[in-house]
Amino acid sequence: MPYAVRMRIVIAGGSGFLGSALAAHLAANNHHVVILTRQPRSADPGRPRTTFEHWSPDGHSGGWANALDEADAVVNLAGESIAARRWSASQKQKIRDSRLLATRSLTAAMRELSRPPRAFISGSAVGYYGDRSDETLTEASAPGTDFLAGVCQEWEAAANAIGDRARVVLIRTGIVLDRKGGALPKILPPFYLFAGGPIGSGRQYMSWIHRDDWVRLVAWSATSESARGALNVTGPRPITNKEFSTALGRALRRPSVVPAPRFALRIALGEMADALLLSSQRALPVRSTDLGFTFRFSNIDDALADIFTTR
Ligand SMILES: NC(=O)c1ccc[n+]([C@@H]2O[C@H](COP(=O)([O-])OP(=O)(O)OC[C@H]3O[C@@H](n4cnc5c(N)ncnc54)[C@H](OP(=O)(O)O)[C@@H]3O)[C@@H](O)[C@H]2O)c1
Repeated sequence: MPYAVRMRIVIAGGSGFLGSALAAHLAANNHHVVILTRQPRSADPGRPRTTFEHWSPDGHSGGWANALDEADAVVNLAGESIAARRWSASQKQKIRDSRLLATRSLTAAMRELSRPPRAFISGSAVGYYGDRSDETLTEASAPGTDFLAGVCQEWEAAANAIGDRARVVLIRTGIVLDRKGGALPKILPPFYLFAGGPIGSGRQYMSWIHRDDWVRLVAWSATSESARGALNVTGPRPITNKEFSTALGRALRRPSVVPAPRFALRIALGEMADALLLSSQRALPVRSTDLGFTFRFSNIDDALADIFTTR
């Protein structure tokens, strides 16, 4: 549905898997999008109402801050990928520092502007809650204690530092499902080889969300004055990894009976296996639902059918 008012929205990390989908959605709804990127590039003629601005997210403001002047909202998605490589001590440092420095750069820029953006929509993840078995998690639940939970808490605190000047929304994103990016393409290969199945015990909960709903929910939080504070950006029906694997097998018409053993994943991936594959979060999007947001995809079979058949 097109929005009535045309806005100027800046997306830091808008070149990535989630940011590029958000940028395309906003531009299609007549907003002007500015993407902050570390890679200088010129405007893409194929992308209307979208410009690129080079920035250096070093914890400070810079000449690029002009791009935020008179913007209506800033969306902060920048950060080193958490799944790109094994978590050495230096890789963990990069994962943490890249998020904190990018967030501090944005809040420093917002503080020095005479007309700063009214809304700051800043990244976080359901990793905030740590590994929580089958406990139901709302935005009011306590944080976890592992590495990613610590990163998310610091990341959110850095964003909240601008709370006196802007409406801050902390988007605790779950597992975003799409065929072309995020977790799904990494999970698919064994299924295509007829060797797919649950990961570890399969009892861990996955707080999944269809990418289109992620985009709609984040766009809604940028444009709705009522959205404020932490939001679980997850679908309304989290499921166990075993249920997910079974649904994926159904969608692909492949068996889903070959489990990936926990010890093998730990040998192959180290600490990352626990954090990304074996950790359990059963998060519910309580705040957005209370505020009237409606999801298109709450059933995993419908979501996977859409992902695999219509695109
Ligand atoms: N995808 C998911 O399912 C998921 C789930 C939970 C949370 N999240 C969080 O949501 C955010 C966006 O996710 P995504 O999947 O779109 O990530 P992505 O595809 O890796 O994109 C992140 C963007 O951040 C920028 N970036 C990369 N390394 C950086 C660094 N060291 N310093 C500053 N900027 C850097 C890059 O932009 P340039 O190269 O153009 O500068 C990149 O396009 C991430 O913070 C991620 O942790 C994602």
